Amino acid sequence: MWQSRPTLNAARSPGGTSRRRMFTAGAATAATLAAMATVAIGGSAQAALAPGTPLKTLAAANGNRYFGSDMTGDLVSNSNVTQLQAQQFNMLTPGNEMKWQTIEPNQNQFNFGPGDQIVQYAHANGERYRGHNLVWDSQLAGWVTQIPLNQVQAAMENHITKEVSHYATVTATMPQTPYAWDVVNEPFQESGSLKQDVFFNAMGSGYIADALRTAHAADPNAKLYLNDFNIEGMNAKSNAMFSLAQSLLAAGAPLNGIGFESHFIEGQNPSGIQANMQRFANLGLDVAVTELDDRFTSLPPSNAGLQQQATDFANTVKACLGITRCVGVTQWAIGDPDSWVPGAFSGQGAATMFDQSYAPKPAFTAVQTALGATAGNTVTVTNPGARTGTVGTATSLQISATDSAAGQTLTFSATGLPAGLTISSSGLISGTPTTNQTANVTVTARDGTNASGSASFTWTISGGSTGGTCHVTYTRNSEWPGNFTAQVVIQNTGTSAINGWSLTFTFPGDQKVTANFNGGFSMSGENATLTNASYNGTIAPGSSITDGFQGTFSSNDASPTSFAVNGTACS
Ligand code: XIL
Repeated sequence: MWQSRPTLNAARSPGGTSRRRMFTAGAATAATLAAMATVAIGGSAQAALAPGTPLKTLAAANGNRYFGSDMTGDLVSNSNVTQLQAQQFNMLTPGNEMKWQTIEPNQNQFNFGPGDQIVQYAHANGERYRGHNLVWDSQLAGWVTQIPLNQVQAAMENHITKEVSHYATVTATMPQTPYAWDVVNEPFQESGSLKQDVFFNAMGSGYIADALRTAHAADPNAKLYLNDFNIEGMNAKSNAMFSLAQSLLAAGAPLNGIGFESHFIEGQNPSGIQANMQRFANLGLDVAVTELDDRFTSLPPSNAGLQQQATDFANTVKACLGITRCVGVTQWAIGDPDSWVPGAFSGQGAATMFDQSYAPKPAFTAVQTALGATAGNTVTVTNPGARTGTVGTATSLQISATDSAAGQTLTFSATGLPAGLTISSSGLISGTPTTNQTANVTVTARDGTNASGSASFTWTISGGSTGGTCHVTYTRNSEWPGNFTAQVVIQNTGTSAINGWSLTFTFPGDQKVTANFNGGFSMSGENATLTNASYNGTIAPGSSITDGFQGTFSSNDASPTSFAVNGTACS
């Protein structure tokens, strides 16, 4: 585990580039060049790079996952390295080029060139990319910590909007949009408390929801992630990330996934990785291994050490394969020569699947084997088509699926089911819908070798009690001493659009709203008013918006039971 990591700033050279960034073709030592020459046997490097089916092919055959690497700009013109990169990997994360320090070194002066170069490389090689990252206390431009605190929110929103908009716009020099963004990177201390960085100091914990909403507004198509290290197993930090994810989702914040960096030490993988990642997936989030490496604390590694490293890599990959919503694995480097580990942890290294000559280590073969177990099997789920149902009326639907491999038992799971319905492992969806809604349901079937297939369809539930022209659902999500968060869903059950809303209710207890996650608020005694933000004021007939808020209470936290929108009582 990575308990004693030095600060990343300490890992950087005074020039602001890491040791590994100094590995440019021009600066490579004779020994490095000689090592790379062994990769390019007979002038046909491609064939000699790594034997067997590439990791990306195996991952794609295995539940349509990706296998990625990070890469930095200094390697783009090094064809010995890029051939291996392109042979094995189909998702790219820029190592440093999209971080704040590089992108906006001075306030409102944007430097997109280095990031664009990585995007062009990815595009030319048929790879997607993960944007990394928007908000982080490390590799942050110095000016952000020098401006007055009351200007930090606007600076953060401007940074996110400009960067995300730039990469969301396809041009000749920037030919591809990102698959995902790490919106907030490493927000937690090891204890599970949020870091008291400039963003927290300026905005409190609300900076995370604000960053997500700002990124979503700039690119509604990118998957938005929170990314951190030492959250791979069950511990105080992963528990804190889990609670944060729950409250963000409850508040309607646009969070799509959690990145588990997975910077491990050989022989010290935490236990319970799969169970931990699965609990996040159960919230309806994607999960991904975003920065996998497994380092030796003393060098060179022994043969037994390399075997243990192989086991560590394979187990991490298998944990991902065991989770339907684990979308892929990224190694944080292409091979040992370009790994950040020696620069960040003195005397440590050999942390990747490829050695100093970019030759595959036992870990590479072990990962191939882990991925290959399921290659070739295909699962097809029969799409049941659009469904309808009625609030309060029991319903059931058996999902069917076929597997290309004989004798496999399929296990079903679903996301987005209408409230009140659940799916059994054998694919029977049943229950009694509880709210009017149009749900986007995705059902996945998985066989024993982890091959999977899915189908998506809509399920419209109607017929609920809709007295008046609005319906409000109030759910208290989380509570800790003196504080709580709650979600409100406002549904327009009338026939004309609501343009701008003011939701009023009275707390039966002694609660006070202290923050509305998606708009304004006021309190008068126990009478609360929540108002819309600029982006969620319109509610079309039949649709609903989800808002959330934070509050305090001293002794009585009973939930309110009657609500009005714009002065009209709701059901
Ligand atoms: C590292 C880079 O690889 C280094 O080049 C740089 O000097 C420091 O940052 N967690 C992250 C990554 O999210 O951005 C970090 O990358 C490694 C730890």
